[in-house]
Amino acid sequence: MPASAPYKILIAAQGEEQRWKEAMTARLPNATIYTQDENYDPAAIDFALLWKQPQGMMKSLANIRGIFSLGAGVEHVLSAPFLPKDVPIVRLEDAGMAQQMVEYHMYAALHFMRDFDHYMQAQNNGNWTPRDVAEIGDFRVGVMGLGALGATVATHLAAMGFAVSGWSRRMKAIEGVTTFAGAETLDEFLGQTDILICLLPRTGQTEGLLDSARLSKLPANAAIINASRGAMIVEEDLLRLLDTGHLRGAFLDVAAKEPLPSGHPFWNHPKIRLTPHIAAATRIGPAVDQIAENINRIDKGEAPVGLVDREIGY
Ligand code: NAP
Ligand code: GLV
Repeated sequence: MPASAPYKILIAAQGEEQRWKEAMTARLPNATIYTQDENYDPAAIDFALLWKQPQGMMKSLANIRGIFSLGAGVEHVLSAPFLPKDVPIVRLEDAGMAQQMVEYHMYAALHFMRDFDHYMQAQNNGNWTPRDVAEIGDFRVGVMGLGALGATVATHLAAMGFAVSGWSRRMKAIEGVTTFAGAETLDEFLGQTDILICLLPRTGQTEGLLDSARLSKLPANAAIINASRGAMIVEEDLLRLLDTGHLRGAFLDVAAKEPLPSGHPFWNHPKIRLTPHIAAATRIGPAVDQIAENINRIDKGEAPVGLVDREIGY
């Protein structure tokens, strides 16, 4: 079927269905688009666009030809019961999120580099004492995950003057960034990182990766920025290392449980800055373009861009 074909598309998007339906209808005017609350014949659905869809939704989609995540992460799709075999699962690549991640990480990295964490405490204590301003090139930023988002963040922080390194599964070459690859290089990578940025996907390999042993490999007084998934960090271990003074601070956009429960120790911890999972939101314009182009590719028997490897988990 060509891109103008009368596809049947189902959208489940945590209350955002109508916005997606309008944008997809404008992009694929011949398609019939259903939101999860509308009446549709599950066996007629060709493609599903999902963000944290209801459990079990996939069971009745007997003739589905492609499943699209409406975000960069795909764990909500991969963990779904009744996931049909041999159907491509596709994630969004960038879709406006890389620029937002750059903004978020510039702010958070400067928070530590320019001692704003220290000055926040100083203000609370009524203390007006200037410190020497550090050289940006003396700050070693380490980016875990050099994909669509991590590689862009690493490149921009390097262009600002930070000394940037990055760690990924397979070796990468990124101008201005020292790269490490594989589990066997993780300790070395962590040992030379003053500000650790985590932009890994949540998989069986990355869940709980940043535990006490790993976080202790960071040099004393290191800081951590996590805008990937809360599950990457063992929260009690992070708290212990902040409290013992090994870690200087944490800038967190995500938590193991979201929304962060009231009474959680992160809320009022003096060394933690929190944002409510806002580091980067999908931009609907580039996202629908990407999805429409990928539907076209699947139709032509080509691999979609952003195809997820189910075995590896991202
Ligand atoms: P991506 O393009 O798939 O990149 C993932 C990167 O992680 C790749 O460099 C990959 O290595 C690396 N990686 C995966 N498993 C690894 C392992 N076991 N060891 C070492 N490196 C590993 O993902 P992305 O689009 O950049 O997004 C990253 C994550 O950001 C998403 O999965 C999502 O959880 C999070 N996110 C958060 C927000 C927010 O607002 N907080 C918004 C969007 C996304 P290779 O390059 O070798 O494959
Ligand atoms: C947001 O968290 C995403 O994965 O796109």
